[in-house]
Amino acid sequence: MVTVRHIDPDVPIHVEPISRILARAAVTALRAPSIWNTQPWHWRIEHDTAKLRADRRRQLDPIDPDGRLLTVSCGAALHHARVALAAEGADVVVERLPRDDDPDLLATLRYTGVVPWSSTAQRLRRAIQVRRTDRRPFDVKPVPEHVADRLRAAARHAGADMHLVRPKDLTAVAVAAGHAAAAERADPAYRAELARWTGASLAAGVGVPLDTVAALGARPVPIRDFTGVDEGPSIYSGEDPVDRAASYGVIVTDVDEPAAWLVAGEALSAVLLAATAERLATSAMSDLVEVRSARDLLRRMLGNVAHPVIGVRIGIPGPGALPPHSPRRPAAEAVEVLGELMVDRHQADGG
Ligand SMILES: Cc1cc2nc3c(=O)[nH]c(=O)nc-3n(C[C@H](O)[C@H](O)[C@H](O)COP(=O)(O)O)c2cc1C
Repeated sequence: MVTVRHIDPDVPIHVEPISRILARAAVTALRAPSIWNTQPWHWRIEHDTAKLRADRRRQLDPIDPDGRLLTVSCGAALHHARVALAAEGADVVVERLPRDDDPDLLATLRYTGVVPWSSTAQRLRRAIQVRRTDRRPFDVKPVPEHVADRLRAAARHAGADMHLVRPKDLTAVAVAAGHAAAAERADPAYRAELARWTGASLAAGVGVPLDTVAALGARPVPIRDFTGVDEGPSIYSGEDPVDRAASYGVIVTDVDEPAAWLVAGEALSAVLLAATAERLATSAMSDLVEVRSARDLLRRMLGNVAHPVIGVRIGIPGPGALPPHSPRRPAAEAVEVLGELMVDRHQADGG
């Protein structure tokens, strides 16, 4: 057998049915959220196994020197793929960071058989197509507590806890966000990297297009300014604050290491998809953890017992048109499928 990469549609190759199921899930997982829409992963599918690798060329050194956010993003892709597989009725065994000598191999998924049809899997699969980051100010009505509890349960089911920020802790989150924004704005390397992944100079299929970036407005908790223009209006400017009813969650882990970051990414995806299925809007907030002092502040807010990995802003969508979906790379760039060259089969059959 000659195995070839299935990236050229004109090359006639035979791909096993199970490989096709895994490939479809990996392609669906391209819709996963990722830090600055870098999509820092690569899938390789062979027989009954899909391998998820980190693509370090897409790591954002100024804000992510340890690859924490890259790994969280890959965790989100892993969870998206698992949702897609469950919706197709495919069961897999997942091994996370299976090899000490290959830290970029983040997970392997091995097909093990069929699972019964589940309405939850179908709902989450539909949520993948609908979900997008919504940075607009949310509605004035808050997320009902019992719904927020369901989102927490979704995170826990995916292996990590989500701490829901209590009103008395909102100041700590606001200070962490403001502090992170000021520190990052003052860093020329940050500004250069932001310019590379936003706006006009964007490479095709990646990055944060400016039409997905909401006007900032004066918010109790500032969100990242992707325009890089200035610090925007503050709630102390006398302007009426917007986004007052947003809820904030922080995905936390017991340890601060790659295996935990991967699971935190799976939990992030679980929360975002569950929220979308509840018709809620969300945007991730990693600025809260990118700057050491802001991360320490959050950790103190959490009683120093857990490590904050990523924040999530959750709310009822505001009025008006939803923001557009952001672009994705062509599937052939992110997903490689090994198959058998048809001509070999033909010859082997004596043809
Ligand atoms: C690890 C991670 C960190 C993120 N950090 C932020 C952030 O700080 N601010 C923000 O507005 N969006 C953030 N996002 C959302 C991404 O920008 C978004 O997922 C990406 O641009 C793709 O767009 P989509 O979510 O609409 O598909 C983050 C997403 C991930 C997975």
